[in-house]
Formats: sequence, C-alpha cells, structure tokens
Amino acid sequence: MLEKIQILLSEVEQFSCSNAEELEKFRIEYLGKKGKITALFADFKNVPNEQKKEFGQKINLLKNTASDKVEALKQSLSASRKVSVGNDLSLPGEAQNLGSRHPISLVRNEISEIFKRIGFNISEGPEIEDDWHVFSALNFPEEHPARDMQDTFFIEKNPDVLLRTHTSSVQVRVMDYEKPPIRTLSPGRVFRNEAISARAHCIFHQIEGLYIDKEVSFADLKQTLLYFAKEFFGEKSEIRLRPSYFPFTEPSAEVDVSCSLCGGKGCNVCKYTGWLEILGCGMVDPNVLESSGIDSKVYSGFAFGMGIERIAMLKYGIKDLRLFFENDKRFLEQFSEL
Ligand code: DAH
Repeated sequence: MLEKIQILLSEVEQFSCSNAEELEKFRIEYLGKKGKITALFADFKNVPNEQKKEFGQKINLLKNTASDKVEALKQSLSASRKVSVGNDLSLPGEAQNLGSRHPISLVRNEISEIFKRIGFNISEGPEIEDDWHVFSALNFPEEHPARDMQDTFFIEKNPDVLLRTHTSSVQVRVMDYEKPPIRTLSPGRVFRNEAISARAHCIFHQIEGLYIDKEVSFADLKQTLLYFAKEFFGEKSEIRLRPSYFPFTEPSAEVDVSCSLCGGKGCNVCKYTGWLEILGCGMVDPNVLESSGIDSKVYSGFAFGMGIERIAMLKYGIKDLRLFFENDKRFLEQFSEL
C-alpha cells in the first residue's frame, strides 16, 4: 500500500493540463468521492496499528499535494486567460464617449458668429457687479422696482454689491474703456431672484448688443435685427417691432420674429399669433451716453438684449427651461451632432 501511495504521489506531481475540463477530470479522479485518494482513506482501517502513523502521514501528504496542485493549476489557468485576452489585438476596443457642447453654448456661439460677420467684437464683464454698472449708469431711477430685493440678489452687508440682473451692465463697462465707434456683443450669465419653473430660473444667459457711432439711426437698428433674424431663423423670417419701455433706451421696442415652425400661419408654439418675441432693443438714451462720458450731440447708438435660453428653446423646441441646468446626459447628448 505504501508503494501505491508513492505511485499516486508521483502521478499527482507530474500532472499538468491546458484547460479547466482536464483539471476538473483530474480532481474527480483523485479527490472526488470515488477518487483514488479517497479510496485510500477507506482502506486505512485495514492497515496494522503499528503502521497507521506512517500511513496516515503519507496519505495526508498525498491528499494535500493533490489539492495544492488543483488550486495552483486553477490559478495559473485563469491568469493565462487574462493575459491572452489582454494580448488579443483583434478584439474590439472600448468605446470612449465624446462630450458635446451644451445647447446654450451652441446658440451663443452661433449668435456671436452672425454678429461678428458684420463687425461686432465680443466683450465680457463681471457677474458680481455694483449698482452703478447695473442700474445707475443705465438711467434706472433710484426707486425703480428692478432694484428691489425681490428681483436682485444683493450682498447683505453691502447693498452696492450685487449679482448682475442683465448683461446691459457690460455696455457701461465697454463705454468706460473704449471710444466710439463701438460695435460689441456681450454674452454672459445673469441672476434674478425668481422661483424656478419651466419658464423661469434664477440663473440664465443673455446676449447684449451695442452699436455707437456718428449718425446711427433707428433704421440701422431695424436692419441689423432683420439681418440677424434671417441668418438665425431662416431667410424667410420677418420681424416686427412693438413700442416698449426700458430706462436705458429711447425709443424702446420689443422685437418679434415670424414663427419659423408654422411660417407665420399660427401654431401652438407661437400661440396662434404667427409671431415669437425674441428681444428688447432701442436707441441708447442720451443720459446713458453722457454717464459714460460720450458726447450725445456727436454720437448716437442702439442696443439690444436677448435671452439665450429663450432663443435655444425656440430653435430646438424645448419646453422646459430647467433642462438646461440639470445636466442630464440624455438631454445633452442630443446636441452632440450639431
Ligand atoms: N436688459 C434688458 C433685460 O434684461 C434687455 C434689453 C432690452 C437690453 C433693451 C437692451 C435693450 O440693450 O436695448 O430685460
């Protein structure tokens, strides 16, 4: 019987295999319930008492060698599988998702390009502003409701410091450091103390336009906005101006563009009017020019301001403003090909 153990031990030691099935066959043959080593344990009772110690040690050694072998082969088989997967250059690669531009950036860039083509440059101003640049220099009277805490985020300790409520503040900054002629477009983030809903948000984006030169007229304003509407919404677009009021422009107007979805016939997007409101504008009030040290007898100008979210909602048919700020990938990915 000692001899049998010796033979089995050398069989176990010499065993090698190339796959998991062979290994499992080996395990069952030697260590399984009816396996060769298990059978030796059954025979153990027939071994004379004085030899039991030696036999016991040998059988245990055999059994441990066999189970160690199974374990070691299992490990090396799975390791070699990993290596071979890693080295197989014909396997398809893992796809890398590309990011996409945010729809607000796409619309901002498109509007900027349209105005750059007719000589406008891009200017920026700070989001944390002071009362002068947001209100006073723009001819807002002291008691104007926009100054109210209801609309404007003020810094509690210093009411002169506030988050800008419109990008018109950049007009003032540009006039501070540039001399006419000025043709500038100022895109940026603005802040208002509004409850968040499908149509309003406390953070949104605007683009401000400013044109100052000698003899700039209301006709120039109209033609510039018509050019913009045709470039952005399509060649067939028309605009209409409705009288309005802004402290910093006189006269002021609100501009509608013909609804590009129904061609002006009336649909649920334009609420069956055929027109969509897109921006506010007007001739820069002489007080505003004078506040910034520009002689209003020599120079005149026009200004306009539009909400980027609103334009993006019209362009892409988006019904809820909150989507722009939630950064849900399923929403953002839809703009990746644009
Ligand atoms: N600042 C205005 C707003 O936030 C938009 C605006 C209207 C800008 C008329 C202008 C303008 O430059 O001329 O509602």
